[in-house]
Amino acid sequence: MASRVIPVEVFDLVIFGGTGDLARRKILPGLYLRWLAGQIPAEARIIGAARGELDDQGFRDFVAASIEEFVARDRKDKAAIKGFLERLHYVAIDVTGEKGWKDLKALGREGAVQAFYFSVAPALFGAIAERLRSYEIAGAEARIVVEKPFGRDLASARALNATLAQHFEEGQIYRIDHYLGKETVQNLMAVRFANILFEPLWKSEYIDHVQITVAETVGVEGRGAYYDKSGAMRDMVQNHIMQLLCLIAMEPPYHFDPDAVRDEKLKVIRALDPVKPEDIVRGQYLAGAGEGSYLEHSGNKDSRTESYIALKVHISNWRWKGTPFYLRTGKRLRARESEIAITFREPPHSIFDDHSGWRENVLVIRLQPDEGMNLKVMIKEPGPGGMRLTQVPLDMSFAEALANTMEDVPDAYERLIMDVIRGNQTLFMRGDEVEAAWAWTDPIIQGWEARGDRPQGYDPGTSGPEDALMLMHRDGRRWRGIGQ
Ligand code: NDP
Ligand code: BG6
Repeated sequence: MASRVIPVEVFDLVIFGGTGDLARRKILPGLYLRWLAGQIPAEARIIGAARGELDDQGFRDFVAASIEEFVARDRKDKAAIKGFLERLHYVAIDVTGEKGWKDLKALGREGAVQAFYFSVAPALFGAIAERLRSYEIAGAEARIVVEKPFGRDLASARALNATLAQHFEEGQIYRIDHYLGKETVQNLMAVRFANILFEPLWKSEYIDHVQITVAETVGVEGRGAYYDKSGAMRDMVQNHIMQLLCLIAMEPPYHFDPDAVRDEKLKVIRALDPVKPEDIVRGQYLAGAGEGSYLEHSGNKDSRTESYIALKVHISNWRWKGTPFYLRTGKRLRARESEIAITFREPPHSIFDDHSGWRENVLVIRLQPDEGMNLKVMIKEPGPGGMRLTQVPLDMSFAEALANTMEDVPDAYERLIMDVIRGNQTLFMRGDEVEAAWAWTDPIIQGWEARGDRPQGYDPGTSGPEDALMLMHRDGRRWRGIGQ
């Protein structure tokens, strides 16, 4: 059984920054794969827009090269590539000036969904939004897609929201967090809300603690200038990890509907307690394994920016009071591994004399790689010698369980762009969600800036700084191993 593909309506997608890195690596190869899957109608058009003086053919050559480089060999189909390239057009435009806008307007037509992807620096968003209106290019139903980072603090996120709101309704604004487009991240909602099994236990009465880990092996080489102004807190926690936390902790929405889901996520963010300085560990990777240190990669010898962060977080509501959430993410760690581990509490009373083999039940949801679930349960140790307990995993890899269906599962960008065309905002962040996430993040960052805290160095290929271990040890808990 292959995954089901429902074609979207005819659309015109304009990609501002259509010749940039994101377009080349993710957006355009992703669109090709949706074309190959039969999801994009033949009348659809994709219009690249940037300052470079290309014509349609020049842009087609650029896109052909990006497909060549970023699409897997077994997905490259000559006829499909040819057909896809015919859907492409290009307009040379300077979004901060007046050049090219009339050409873009001239491409307008009736009866196609209009989407505008702002794949340019956030400083240019306002200029694009304004001109899409002043040149009367964007119709009443047009959608705009904006990339991260959505601000770098509450004030800048508010300003950005206010700028976009001058020209577009909230229902037209699609703020991308690519983690929400990942198959397994969406699966969190299916696991929680399509099974009766977990939800009755999904509360502090039964859950001791939750660990969320997003570990990467890559460093910041090549992106040092951007990253050094951001750090792990802004780059990963405020958005991707926050979204994972919300999906794990939120109340069941009344319906799988954009605002119902986003209302519940917002309540979680608003219920987050401020984080105490002693509950935060920041790290910076050192040189090792033939690679330079963070300080070399960032080009800033005095940098105090963290490439690793671990935090203990509390959610002050009825469901979660008393259950800490431990979050960690970092670069140049031992393995690329993202998972959520839910550790349950001890049963209230043991009927067994020999309790020594007992371990907590743990539900691990692996997000990447090898997506799947693992539930650790207690059983009797086989053989004679009385009732001794031992723990075994109920382990499931989605790829094995769903063999043929997983083959052509769209990646995050493919899915999210198709959702824009469908007009489904469920997997996009609402303005108030982003602002609430910054409102929680800002005092944490301001705290370490005011104290002049320096991140602790850690060796590449490890689990991060030593102090992160202490964060859990002092609570009588342990991090799960990374890459083990
Ligand atoms: P690039 O610098 O690689 O590309 C920028 C693009 O914008 C180019 O096509 C450039 O073409 C165009 N551009 C720049 N200035 C103008 C202008 N005044 N008028 C019209 N076009 C202009 O950036 P990225 O592709 O890396 O990033 C784009 C956005 O995506 C940013 O907001 C970034 O934060 C975000 N993002 C990027 C990721 C990535 O992996 N690259 C990941 C997540 C988010 P030209 O110079 O010819 O005008
Ligand atoms: C991006 C961050 O948003 O997500 C990067 O800016 C990070 O620093 C990346 O490496 C991780 O995404 P993924 O899909 O590889 O887990």
